[in-house]
Amino acid sequence: MPNTKHPGFSTRALHVGQEADAETGAVSVPIYATSTYVQQEIGKHKGYEYSRVSNPTRTRLEKNLASLEGGIASRVFASGMAAINAICAMFKSGDHVVCGHNLYGGTPRLFNQVLTGYGIEFTYVDTAHVRNVERAIRKRTRMVFVETPTNPLMALSDLRAISQVCLRKKVDLVVDNTFMSPYFQQPIALGADMVVHSTTKFLNGHSDGLGGVVVCTRPEQAEQLGFVQKATGAILSPFECWLVLRGVKTLAIRMEQHDRNGRQVAAFLAKHKKVKKVFYPGLPDHPQYELAQRQMSGFGAMITFETGSLANANKMLRKVRICSLGESLGGVETLISHPATMTHAALGEKGRKQIGITDGMVRISVGIEGVEDIIADLDQALAAI
Ligand SMILES: Cc1ncc(COP(=O)(O)O)c(C=O)c1O
Repeated sequence: MPNTKHPGFSTRALHVGQEADAETGAVSVPIYATSTYVQQEIGKHKGYEYSRVSNPTRTRLEKNLASLEGGIASRVFASGMAAINAICAMFKSGDHVVCGHNLYGGTPRLFNQVLTGYGIEFTYVDTAHVRNVERAIRKRTRMVFVETPTNPLMALSDLRAISQVCLRKKVDLVVDNTFMSPYFQQPIALGADMVVHSTTKFLNGHSDGLGGVVVCTRPEQAEQLGFVQKATGAILSPFECWLVLRGVKTLAIRMEQHDRNGRQVAAFLAKHKKVKKVFYPGLPDHPQYELAQRQMSGFGAMITFETGSLANANKMLRKVRICSLGESLGGVETLISHPATMTHAALGEKGRKQIGITDGMVRISVGIEGVEDIIADLDQALAAI
């Protein structure tokens, strides 16, 4: 019997917010390409006044993503960075944030080069050790911001343990769940107060649009973030909302295939004689393999490996044919990148060294192509070293 009270993940991906259009029966959510809405009289309208404030296509996506992450509401923004910035727009000068020391490079760039100018303070710690988080929390700490697994070192943080510290200290835990997607990791169920994503990645999944989302667990968060949308305007356009609505319809089957391919590519790299080290939470020699099994329901498609030097990395990256050399991740096609000069260039050499990102590291976002073709491509490219 179908469980109509508590539908499963794939059912919610396809049906929550994706109901047929009431007027026409269209099964695909219409793209409401409109800036404004006709009002019946002063102060009387159908719930929509102006598309910076709200738009029906956006409403549908916000409902869908809230359901997939187990939140009460969500707010979507023009990019992942706009979503993270929107959370911080609610802070005041003197407020303090504790965050992971190995985040996507654009996040510390926003924190250090934009938000510190407004008087917000940031402390970076290795969140793999919950004690570090507890020690760094101060009186004015408003948020603990964690990415797990980290980018590109694939280190994990224990979300349940950190959420317990946050609860005790009355600080919000915000998790960037971009790498795992809600299909493999559910931070809210583990105690997070908000979840952010770059929807650009697995949620959209087709490398054809940017976007970001904040999923909320309390009505006042949704209200404040709705105000930030209206006041600052970095909202997601109706067309981009529709792209994500279409993308999430296949999220579950894409993630299954990403995960299957990811495990096989990681096992191949781990055995390759030109590869010095592989960072993947699904390998039994990953230092947090036990936590990975407990906290995630899959290991995903993100793998980092050490080639030994910048020259070696470049030699192999010049040779890849099926894997596309480029920034970003989470698309159906395999993307391969060089963190030191791409995603983490903004950290500078010293910043990268401090957290262990080397010039020889290569990061791969394993796509859903035939895995034997991805492996053959990597094998011939590694022969160039
Ligand atoms: C983990 C993570 N968070 C946030 C972002 C920023 O998202 P966007 O590029 O959509 O602004 C990225 C981008 O690569 C990311 O990898």
